[in-house]
Amino acid sequence: MSLLITDVGTLVTNDPALGQGPLGLLQDAAVVVEGSRIAWVGPAAAAPAADERFDARHRALLPGFVDSHAHLVFAGDRTAEFNARMSGQAYSAGGIRTTVAATRAATDAELDANLVRFLREALHQGTTTVECKSGYGLTVADEARALRIAASHTPETTYLGAHVVAPEFADDPAGYVDLVTGEMLDACAPHARWVDVFCERGAFDGDQARAVLTAGAKRGLIPRVHANQLSYGPGVQLAVELGAASADHCTHLTDEDVAALAGSETVATLLPGAEFSTRAAYPNARRLLDAGATVALSTDCNPGSSFTSSMAFCIAVAVREMGMTPDEAVHAATAGGAKALRRSDVGVITLGARADLLLLEAPSHVHLAYRPGVPLTAAVWRAGAREF
Ligand code: NIG
Ligand code: FE
Repeated sequence: MSLLITDVGTLVTNDPALGQGPLGLLQDAAVVVEGSRIAWVGPAAAAPAADERFDARHRALLPGFVDSHAHLVFAGDRTAEFNARMSGQAYSAGGIRTTVAATRAATDAELDANLVRFLREALHQGTTTVECKSGYGLTVADEARALRIAASHTPETTYLGAHVVAPEFADDPAGYVDLVTGEMLDACAPHARWVDVFCERGAFDGDQARAVLTAGAKRGLIPRVHANQLSYGPGVQLAVELGAASADHCTHLTDEDVAALAGSETVATLLPGAEFSTRAAYPNARRLLDAGATVALSTDCNPGSSFTSSMAFCIAVAVREMGMTPDEAVHAATAGGAKALRRSDVGVITLGARADLLLLEAPSHVHLAYRPGVPLTAAVWRAGAREF
């Protein structure tokens, strides 16, 4: 079956060869989908016929969002902690343990149902690719089951046994790192594509993070790092040195950190939901972009520091607070996320790409920042199937 989507007001291809600027913008455009793939892109007037026809009525069509950083296998929530923060209490890594207790107590079916609910919530807001981390189990069995559950819904699964030291190892952090790089890694590696570590005061220092990432890499997992979120630290430099796909958060960066990212293939993944929900200063996207780094935007969706699944919200905040233009923010939320996941089949609308498409109830992608908080999803296709 083929589908012609025609009379697209603004088409964001993310391929400069297909249209104007870095977003490869086309006006009055059309797209043909065949099965799960994009089969044709160009001006509506030149579009070939197809089995079915969808009239976009001059609205904007863009690649489905690629959310390259989320923590969605968990139970419970942390409303009380959020409330306390909004009355002046500071965020700390230790809050993770509250969710660990709730997650361990949940059944497989409960965790799966929660994950499915969040993935649907994201899909209805235009997110068609989601990365999903473990990190709320912190035992061999609980980390492995989190990844098994995640892997049944997305290929982008990340082993984050090194989220925080498990409560049982409070007096023996070195023993916990041995577990994470040994028996727990053995149990988790078959279900994971990536390995991650929270490199931060109150979580893991540079040496511990290096041990976790190199052990994961030896098992074929590709590194990504929670780096420089709450304070300056070694995370970004370590990510670049180890060739990590991304350094995530990047809130506190020295000039050397920015230069290292700019001179590497490591993507700087910014997570404005975290600064919003912890009432912290935002990362400076402008500084990274001006230096030449690749920037991705993601939700960091988790019950502690950023309980949003909305990529549109992240775009709006990044534009308003982080020095990004609407074009840059939309690129970061689509092509940027794809690069952070080393994927060339998503985040673009080009020949042969997966047909992941978001039609907006708006004439232009700029409205994602211009109309903050407004539900703008008009239609979503994932792998060619209409999902919304
Ligand atoms: O990315 N920074 C570490 N992990 C999460 C927060 C997890 C939590 O507070 O439960 C983050 O912000
Ligand atoms: Fe995170």
